[in-house]
This record gives sequence, C-alpha cells and structure tokens, in this order.
Amino acid sequence: MANKTLLTKRVSFSASHRYWNKDWSEEKNLEVFGKCTSPHGHGHNYVLETTVQGDIDPETGMIINLYDLKPIILDALADFDHKFLNEDNPAFADLIPTTENIAKVLWDVISEKLESHGCRLHRIRLYETPELYVDYWRDK
Ligand code: NI
Repeated sequence: MANKTLLTKRVSFSASHRYWNKDWSEEKNLEVFGKCTSPHGHGHNYVLETTVQGDIDPETGMIINLYDLKPIILDALADFDHKFLNEDNPAFADLIPTTENIAKVLWDVISEKLESHGCRLHRIRLYETPELYVDYWRDK
C-alpha cells in the first residue's frame, strides 16, 4: 500500500462580499439571500487551510518546504485579503462569492502554483466562521 502524507497550512484573511445573482430580480435576490444581498456587502474573517499531498523528500524530510508553500498561499490571497470580492477580484465578475465558490477559485490558483513543486493540492478547507466551513477538492 502506498504511503500517504498530508501537510496542512492555516492562514487567515479578511474580505467582504455580497450575494447577488444578476439574472434575478431584486425581490428574488432578497428572498433567496436575505441580508447577504445588502448592496454594500459585509465582511468575514476567513480561515483558509491548504492541504498538500506528496512524497517525503529524503534529503529535506519534507513534502514541501514551508518557505515555498507560504509565499504561494499568500500570493494566491493577494486578490482576496482586504478586498470586496464582487468588485476587486475578477474571478467573481460572473460568480457569486460564496464560501463554496471562494474555495473553488482558491483551489484553481493554488493548485496551479504548486505544480512546479513536486506535490499536489489535496484539499482546500475554507472557514467563513468558526462554525461554518467548506471543503473543496478535485480528483485527478
Ligand atoms: Ni457572508
């Protein structure tokens, strides 16, 4: 049986968002999203857990060096941290910035940046609050 090793790095960031489906009337947006559709948005302190999977390098004893992983995550968060996601992050021009969709977009950005580091993204876990989180992963 193959060995499996996972490493998880936790990082927090702050962002604001608004739930708004532009194909719906204001009434329907209000009905479905309630106060989350308020025009000026509202903020969250998100916690992102990035879990990578890979083989332990016999020379370093690591899957990936934290000196490599941390800048990848922080770089990926540049379009998220202290941003109004609906307007400041182009990924959400036509995508509602729910926790589910934020996790999906972060998967795309981080998995691409990890490609050259000999390990793969295993899971993105994104906490919107301490009581609510989303897991996102894609099987290759
Ligand atoms: Ni919210």
